[in-house]
Amino acid sequence: MYHQICLLSSIQDASKSEHAIRAVWRSRGYDITRDYYLQHQALASSLPMTLTKPMQKDLGSFGRSYTKTLDNAVMTSPLLAEWKGTETPMITLFGRRGQPLGFDLFDNKGGNYNFAVAALSGSGKSVFVNEMAYRYRAAGAKVWIIDVGRSYKNLCELMDGEFIEFADERDNNLCLNPFSMVQDINNDMEMLLPLLAEMASPREPLNNFCYTSLSSAIKQVWDAKGSEATVTDIYNLLRIGKIYEDGASEIELTHMSVALEPYTKYGVYASYFEGQANIEFNKDFIVLELEELKSKPDLQAVVMQIIMYRITQEMYLDRSRRKIVIIDEAWDLMGSGSSGHFIEAGYRRARKYGGAFGTITQSVDDYYKTEATKATINNADWLFLLRQKPENIDRLGKEGKLTIDEWMKRQLSSITTDHGNYSEIFVHSPMGSGIGRLLLDPFSMMLFSTRPEDFEKIKNMREQNSMTTEQAIEVLLNERIKNDRRKRVDRRNATI
Ligand SMILES: Nc1ncnc2c1ncn2[C@@H]1O[C@H](COP(=O)(O)OP(=O)(O)OP(=O)(O)O)[C@@H](O)[C@H]1O
Ligand SMILES: [Mg+2]
Repeated sequence: MYHQICLLSSIQDASKSEHAIRAVWRSRGYDITRDYYLQHQALASSLPMTLTKPMQKDLGSFGRSYTKTLDNAVMTSPLLAEWKGTETPMITLFGRRGQPLGFDLFDNKGGNYNFAVAALSGSGKSVFVNEMAYRYRAAGAKVWIIDVGRSYKNLCELMDGEFIEFADERDNNLCLNPFSMVQDINNDMEMLLPLLAEMASPREPLNNFCYTSLSSAIKQVWDAKGSEATVTDIYNLLRIGKIYEDGASEIELTHMSVALEPYTKYGVYASYFEGQANIEFNKDFIVLELEELKSKPDLQAVVMQIIMYRITQEMYLDRSRRKIVIIDEAWDLMGSGSSGHFIEAGYRRARKYGGAFGTITQSVDDYYKTEATKATINNADWLFLLRQKPENIDRLGKEGKLTIDEWMKRQLSSITTDHGNYSEIFVHSPMGSGIGRLLLDPFSMMLFSTRPEDFEKIKNMREQNSMTTEQAIEVLLNERIKNDRRKRVDRRNATI
């Protein structure tokens, strides 16, 4: 064996560098000695691919190499390496030392395929998820994205996807009656019940009595009307305060009916829930945009859950195919009532049917604010962290999601996003963890960009010059190259 550390430093920093390197080795129990006079041999042998037979002989004759037992040799080898990822490079990042890091959510054989992404605003979450959606779709998966804010519109156009926009109740023509979506009431009850519970109590979970009463009400209504049933039927039953004719009247049931009213034919949201559901996912790339419902968080949470319910049913149809569901701005979209149960049921189903759910929030803290978001992070084996606030890093340690020691803290605090160049992502999974950089080509960067000016330019080009998204981006990139070239020439001329 032969150990040599070669330090390259300026003369002023030489002593400081030497101390630093000694400290690193001492912390591992080694004392290193300074080498004199043999700079040439030391430098040559430290370079890659130089330890050839003659060089080894040379080192031997200077008494610099020695033998060790195999165990000792392995333990003392200074291996500096980065995580290489999992076996399938579906998404490719690059480590800080240049190691390609490829991974596939579905390589996690022992657990689930779900993921959670958390980072500060503007750090590149949507760009990363755009890339992820693009890669999976390109590999044949079916992709759904639920979003607020149109971050995925360009990608949807390029992928010839379906862009479903929810409009406010006056312009709405999408019906989401959950009863008409039921295929097998015994199976579907695990999602139908928490869904109605969310409508009946949007702020906090229902108590036991109300929850079981609601369950009986759903069964009764289903037995009587089957898939023709609507929320109005549940409302009518609960309004009188009792589910069975001979039972005593309970005020709590009447309270539930009051909360359900907006979703009935008497309420403001009637157009979303009366009649036969007509939401269909005909294409393989589907973006559901909920921005117009932003001012009605209760309705937004219910709509979001019905979409999830409908998606899990779709997943069931073809178990052999991969399916990805991404929920951007998840904290905003998920309710806080009984949606925890709902999410757990949905996530459990997804794993069985070869599907992955992924959520995105602005901070780790957002994940611990409601039962629903807690359920999403607790049921996600994959965690992707971009730029974070230090206090949020501690939170992950406290909640037991990560083991946060000093080293991990330093690693996570050092994650940055260099706008226009790359974003750094800490990938944590049961298969391994590491930091990787997302480096994108200019076309993808423009396609995924959420900068208003890029977005507007593409939109205008499409509308005014009747171009496709692809053509618009090509033209814009060519313009940019020409501008850069002109600027360079001007600068050169100015210096002459
Ligand atoms: N990998 C990357 N390489 C280069 N630039 C990037 C990268 N990721 C993000 N950016 C830049 O950062 C901008 C913001 O990224 P993005 O919209 O993904 O942030 P976000 O975390 O989703 O923010 P918000 O929480 O506000 O939605 C992008 O428009 C792009 O200019
Ligand atoms: Mg975003």
